[in-house]
Formats: sequence, C-alpha cells, structure tokens
Amino acid sequence: MLKSNNIVLIGFMGVGKGSVAREVIKHSEYITLDTDDMIESMQNKKIKDIFEQDGESYFRKLESDVAKWLESSVKNTLISTGGGFYKQENLKKIGIVVLLDSPFEKIIKRIKHHPNAMKKLKKRPLLRDLKKAKELYDERRPEYLKIADIVIDVTKKSVLECSKELLKKVKAHA
Ligand code: S3P
Repeated sequence: MLKSNNIVLIGFMGVGKGSVAREVIKHSEYITLDTDDMIESMQNKKIKDIFEQDGESYFRKLESDVAKWLESSVKNTLISTGGGFYKQENLKKIGIVVLLDSPFEKIIKRIKHHPNAMKKLKKRPLLRDLKKAKELYDERRPEYLKIADIVIDVTKKSVLECSKELLKKVKAHA
C-alpha cells in the first residue's frame, strides 16, 4: 500500500494550526486542507450555526465522515484539523500526527491579541465560556500528547519558526 505522506495537524482551538499550515505550504510541496472548512463547504453553513442548529454530536459525525474520506482519498497534504478531530479512530491512518502545543493561558492570550479577536472567539462555540474551555483543555492535553507522533511547543515561537521546526521534524521522522 502506498504511504499517504499526509501530515495531520492537531491541537487546541486557537493554538495556530491554520497559521502554521499556511506558512508550511509556502516552504514546501504540501498543499493544505482544513477539516472545519471542508465541513462548512459540505453543509454550506458556518461551524457555529451547525453547533447551534444541529448540535455538537451532528458536527462530530461530519468530522468522522471527513476523516474516512481523508484516509481513502488524500495524499501529500497538510491537514489542519478542528480541536476535537484528534478523537477520530482512524487518525493515525490518515497521516503522521503533529501536535501544536502551548499552555492554555498563552493560547487565550494569543487569541485576544489578534486583530480579529472577537471574530475568533465568536466562531468557536466551545471557547465562549473560558472556565469550561480550560476544563476541556485539561482533559484533552494528555490525549493530544498520547496520540501525537511529533510535538511542537509553539510558545514564544513565530509562525515561521514553527513551520520550519515542523518540516524538519517530519523529515527526521520519515
Ligand atoms: C472544536 C474546535 C474548532 C471547531 C469546532 C470544535 C473543538 O476548530 O472544529 O468549533 O472541539 O475543539 P479550531 O480548533 O480550529 O478552533
């Protein structure tokens, strides 16, 4: 069987998966896909509206449909995922799993300092209540670390530094 050569980027909401993915493709042959964008196109609806109108479990079902399709049909791609996508059973079959890691407080600080901070918070239903979001982070972080093949601590690093580190570590892992 051919190796997929995909990279699956996981990590908590707001850690910078999209920004790092966009930077990596500037410095490599990868193309990029984003599971949230795919779901929004499939449904012709924003993630927050899917959560509000159809519920979180419906959203998770859509994530699993996307995961199956990625495994069967996608190669040589950097796949940026939503923060809960790491739970997909076939995650490791899709590609090499890279975690972007940072403490919760730093992630929130990063979002709040962003020029589009309000938009970034609004579009993420699970970030609206920061106490609950912290609980979710504490629950998920050990699971992220367990499933990741490669971990990149993004704290205090530029997007460019993170993207270079990612490409170096992926190459060394192959
Ligand atoms: C979620 C993260 C979001 C999005 C949805 C659920 C999660 O993506 O998939 O709101 O469960 O952590 P980002 O990680 O890109 O914010």
